[in-house]
Amino acid sequence: MKIDGKHYRSIELNDNGWSVRIFDQRKLPWELVFVELTERDQAAVAIREMWTRGAPLLAATGAYGLCLALRKDPSDENLKNSYDLLLATRPTAVNLRWALDEVMNAVKTLPREMRAQAAYARTKAICDEDVEINRRIGLNGLPLIREISKQKNGKPVNILTHCNAGWLATVDYGTITSPIYMAHDEGIAVHVWVDETRPRNQGASLTAYELAHHGVPHTVIADNAGGHLMQRRQVDLCIVGTDRVVRNGDVCNKIGTYLKALAAYDNNIPFYVALPYPTIDYTLESGEDIPIEERGAEEVTHIEGQNPTGTVEKVRITQSPAANPAFDITPARYVTGYITERGLLNAIPEPVEVQKRKVS
Ligand code: MRU
Repeated sequence: MKIDGKHYRSIELNDNGWSVRIFDQRKLPWELVFVELTERDQAAVAIREMWTRGAPLLAATGAYGLCLALRKDPSDENLKNSYDLLLATRPTAVNLRWALDEVMNAVKTLPREMRAQAAYARTKAICDEDVEINRRIGLNGLPLIREISKQKNGKPVNILTHCNAGWLATVDYGTITSPIYMAHDEGIAVHVWVDETRPRNQGASLTAYELAHHGVPHTVIADNAGGHLMQRRQVDLCIVGTDRVVRNGDVCNKIGTYLKALAAYDNNIPFYVALPYPTIDYTLESGEDIPIEERGAEEVTHIEGQNPTGTVEKVRITQSPAANPAFDITPARYVTGYITERGLLNAIPEPVEVQKRKVS
């Protein structure tokens, strides 16, 4: 992703080879603030308090958190405690657990003095894999947009998305944004309806920021507007990201996704989910089993924005108690297909081990 002509990944190792650079996403779209993580506990805070967020980026940040922990103290005890502490930071996106397991498996049998180096090597590979996965998701989703553009004789393809599953939620490209950027870059006219995504406004603050920097035409809408736009045939395609998909194809994503899927189903509008393989949780059968993060009420009772003098302020918008479930489940029956790095799928494939067993 480029900002003002300079390419950035959402997370990168600094030149010293060990500390980690992230963006403080709480400050966007007002300010681009870089943060250096030097300690495991800083990585944990950055995840818990959403300086950094989005399922694949949580994975990368958690893995680097474990690297920082092992750099200081490679003991078995610190490895186990740090794994547990980082895993507990956010419960819903399964990518975090996947990445922590990857690093744990890469280091646990090694002598202590080799652990930090091996952890950094595996984490760097996780980050590079994420970039390549998202590039492939883009290539596999692009024909969908091309086809709609052809059917509309080149008129803009209107894509609706919820939350942020862009570059800022991954290491680069994004999942849902990857095919959109590719379509835009090859000259296909696209326009994105960006759900603001209350309460944290990831759509209005982050997706819109990214699309603006890439030059993609877009319009922010209130979360409640999507159904109406679908009824009026002003949406051609919905694409959303996900924090966890289970064996039966149920999709967990940012709260409000389910309502968009219902509206798309009622209006015969294709509803696609873009995901990398670490987002599939083969340990769970159905979406009902996914832990749904309950976040603080303040995210609902307050809202942040810029006042006319340019200062960013938070104001209270209700005196009443508030509830804040952060994710919901879209049943597989409402999903048209899954855009993955392995292709455009209409169901979640069996785990690779099972497929191999069937062939042999
Ligand atoms: O609570 P967040 O902002 O971390 O939630 C993120 C989302 O729901 C994303 O859409 C999802 O993680 C997919 S990221 C490619």
